[in-house]
Amino acid sequence: MASRVRVSICFSLLVSLLFVSSISATEEESKKEFVLTLDHSNFSETVDKHPFIVVEFYAPWCGHCKSLAPEYEKAASVLSSHDPPIVLAKVDANEEANKELASQFEIRGFPTLKILRNGGKDAQEYKGPREADGIVTYLKKQVGPASAEISSAEEASSRITGENVFVVGLFPKFSGEEYLNFTILAEKLRSDYDFGHTTDAKLLPRGDAVTGPVVRLFKPFDELVVDFQDFHVEALEKFVEVASIPKVTIFNKDPNNHPYVVKFFNSPNAKAMLFLNFSSQLFDAFKSKFDDAAEHYKGKGVSFLMGDLEASQGAFQYFGLKEDQVPLIIIQTDDSQKYLKPNLEPDHIATWLKEYMDGNVKPYKKSEPIPEVNNEPVKVVVADSLQEIVFNSGKNVLLEFYAPWCGHCQKLAPILEEVAVSFQSDEDVVIAKIDATANDIPQDAFEVKGYPTMYFKPASGDVVQYDGGRTKEDIIEFIQKSRGNTVKEDTVKDEL
Ligand SMILES: *[C@@H]1O[C@H](CO)[C@@H](O)[C@H](O)[C@H]1NC(C)=O
Ligand SMILES: *[C@@H]1O[C@H](CO)[C@@H](O)[C@H](O)[C@H]1NC(C)=O
Ligand SMILES: *[C@@H]1O[C@H](CO)[C@@H](O)[C@H](O)[C@H]1NC(C)=O
Repeated sequence: MASRVRVSICFSLLVSLLFVSSISATEEESKKEFVLTLDHSNFSETVDKHPFIVVEFYAPWCGHCKSLAPEYEKAASVLSSHDPPIVLAKVDANEEANKELASQFEIRGFPTLKILRNGGKDAQEYKGPREADGIVTYLKKQVGPASAEISSAEEASSRITGENVFVVGLFPKFSGEEYLNFTILAEKLRSDYDFGHTTDAKLLPRGDAVTGPVVRLFKPFDELVVDFQDFHVEALEKFVEVASIPKVTIFNKDPNNHPYVVKFFNSPNAKAMLFLNFSSQLFDAFKSKFDDAAEHYKGKGVSFLMGDLEASQGAFQYFGLKEDQVPLIIIQTDDSQKYLKPNLEPDHIATWLKEYMDGNVKPYKKSEPIPEVNNEPVKVVVADSLQEIVFNSGKNVLLEFYAPWCGHCQKLAPILEEVAVSFQSDEDVVIAKIDATANDIPQDAFEVKGYPTMYFKPASGDVVQYDGGRTKEDIIEFIQKSRGNTVKEDTVKDEL
């Protein structure tokens, strides 16, 4: 369970990295705060008072929360005069006393925004944009009826633009169990899709003369229009979810594609991602072979995405990929294993995917190169040398997981160096560091949720997390207390 949560946090991190360029922070600050600050003491009372309220769960250290803050405040100020009122609030979910609230709403990453109706009894995830204008437009739509009637062709063409998924219920009359089930569906999925209903199919784009009841889904990809006639609520819901996932998700700078990219990364499927330069002459050849593969493996637990090199810096950083490896396919499974095929040609796609499906591809590990000289007091560990230095050396190893941009890590660096110097004549103790942003960390051994994180591997025995003070004296004392009898490397080998 814990590892599941970790994986999805990683994915939300990835998703936010992917869109990092689309979040624009502005410096504007106004005196009056329109966003309400809530905590455990006044949350229910406030939510009860407002039939429609949006709550942001944030953490003070979260960068994306900081970029959202001015946009959220600006949106709150615009929406404060909306009729009916739309209230925006925030909760510091990192605060110990508010953690129960956060877990009640299943908050798994920051920021998470929830739309609460009926005193919080109906909670929906906010899935709209993160800049002020976008927030305003999205929330105005959320506060109205979940599905509004379409009564003219003009209205139909202005609402059903062909740029996103739009679900229309076609009914002979707006009553009866089918209609009721459609409204339940619209209410349930309103934060993800646009809904409308009509009695006249001829008003719709590409309309033909059906009278219904039928649900007609318009989408900007694959077959463009799909009809469905099973009005069980669960069946309708499944239909909309499945029909609105493209066979191959396209990831480029076009913001219209972003909701599908988010869905792609939220899916529990294994994710097969083909990255290339979309301007390449071979684009069509790749697209056609990849489409074939997606069709071939439909329903087999793999989702497919094609990403344009130009939009993918975030993903490349996250997976540790390099531009000279494109075109490439990388597959990431739900348990965070990765499989890589660099320098791909269109004809490789089918054969390589078959090898992967047959279990014949070895996982790929992100690692910096093993340093040729490693003679500073604090040793450098990379993913490819972690086993050897930390687990197989038979020594007492203190390992720091750091990020190059992390201020607390920079503060710790000279202290760690002093610790290392003080153990320099002691062969059985190693002080080491690993750049956790450039190397894959084995998740079964270490849990790294923030930087710096330190673990200690005694000469014999399991790793333990170091959560003591960050002074030279504290660390040295801990190592002296926790070090085991050193097992020499040759003895280890003898035992094997
Ligand atoms: C809720 O309580 C906190 C802490 O006492 C306070 O800062 C905040 O303004 C209150 N919010 C509302 C809407 O009353
Ligand atoms: C409406 O949905 C409910 C719940 O799924 C189902 O029991 C009922 O049969 C549905 N009605 C129709 C006409 O399909
Ligand atoms: C993609 O290819 C085009 C045309 O060959 C080139 O101009 C562009 O710089 C390439 N983009 C990247 C990100 O390499």
